[in-house]
Amino acid sequence: MSSRFDSVPAVRDGLQKVDYLADEGIAGVVYLADRLGKPVLVEGPAGTGKTQLAKSVAESTGARLIRLQCYEGLDEAKALYEWNYKKQLLRIQAERVERDAGAKNWDEVSDDIFSEDFLLSRPLLEAIRAEEPVVLLIDEVDRVEIETEALLLEILSDFQVSIPELGTVTANQIPLVFLTSNNTRELSEALKRRCLFLHIDYPSMEREREIVLTKVPDIAESLADQVARIVRTIRQIELKKAPSVSETLDWARTLVLLGVAQISEAEAVDTLHVLLKYQTDIQKAAKELASGGSQWKKS
Ligand SMILES: Nc1ncnc2c1ncn2[C@@H]1O[C@H](COP(=O)(O)OP(=O)(O)OP(=O)(O)O)[C@@H](O)[C@H]1O
Ligand SMILES: [Mg+2]
Repeated sequence: MSSRFDSVPAVRDGLQKVDYLADEGIAGVVYLADRLGKPVLVEGPAGTGKTQLAKSVAESTGARLIRLQCYEGLDEAKALYEWNYKKQLLRIQAERVERDAGAKNWDEVSDDIFSEDFLLSRPLLEAIRAEEPVVLLIDEVDRVEIETEALLLEILSDFQVSIPELGTVTANQIPLVFLTSNNTRELSEALKRRCLFLHIDYPSMEREREIVLTKVPDIAESLADQVARIVRTIRQIELKKAPSVSETLDWARTLVLLGVAQISEAEAVDTLHVLLKYQTDIQKAAKELASGGSQWKKS
């Protein structure tokens, strides 16, 4: 199997070039997954860059991203493949017309309506059949019923799909697979066993500052610094929903739009609704910020 990355630092650099800032842990697991040909199960709080990781790995390696968005009720027909019934039916009707007109005999072999021509590939089969390098993202896998997880097992361990009418389709190249989960339910042991595990938590203050600087155009370093520090303070409070990286970015963009150079307590409190989505959280954070004080001084 050809590898996409030479080393852990190469993963970090590659991702950084496409604006994804990975820490050592993230880069290490991606490197191993590539080397071992194993899927990665990425878990962690909302908005910490789980989905983006798969997208960025695809971008940095020039691979095509194939995404299976999971939801309750997702089935084989939407995840793997289905037969194009309409086309099959039309073919059967066309043959009947030909026979009735005497153009064809009944003993002439009809086209096999369970052949490639009538198959509709869904994301999992598409990833297996791809000729070019692909990254397969199975997003929010915890949303499917536990029984549906079984659909994934053959793909994740053998990189193949069995189609009763056609036989087994085996991958031409081993796709790099990322499964993401918000942990809304426990995943099956069988699924976990097949994957490397990666927990992505909120970034360190330094990394979040770098993410802000990378993702928010025109932001001053001192403002990015202050944003990262205040967000860290707020995450330490007991909240219903801690601010995610995406909310940090929204907040930073808001402050830039408002022309803020140095955040005052009043400006922070006035814009907390960008960062927090529960009124009780906003009140708690406002109180904490008022009692703090140190973060309002210049660094
Ligand atoms: N390490 C990072 N480097 C650059 N951008 C990041 C990083 N982490 C998060 N982001 C940014 O945060 C945003 C949210 O990331 P993403 O959608 O991947 O979160 P998620 O973990 O999949 O969340 P959810 O669980 O809600 O699906 C993205 O727009 C991404 O640009
Ligand atoms: Mg996501």
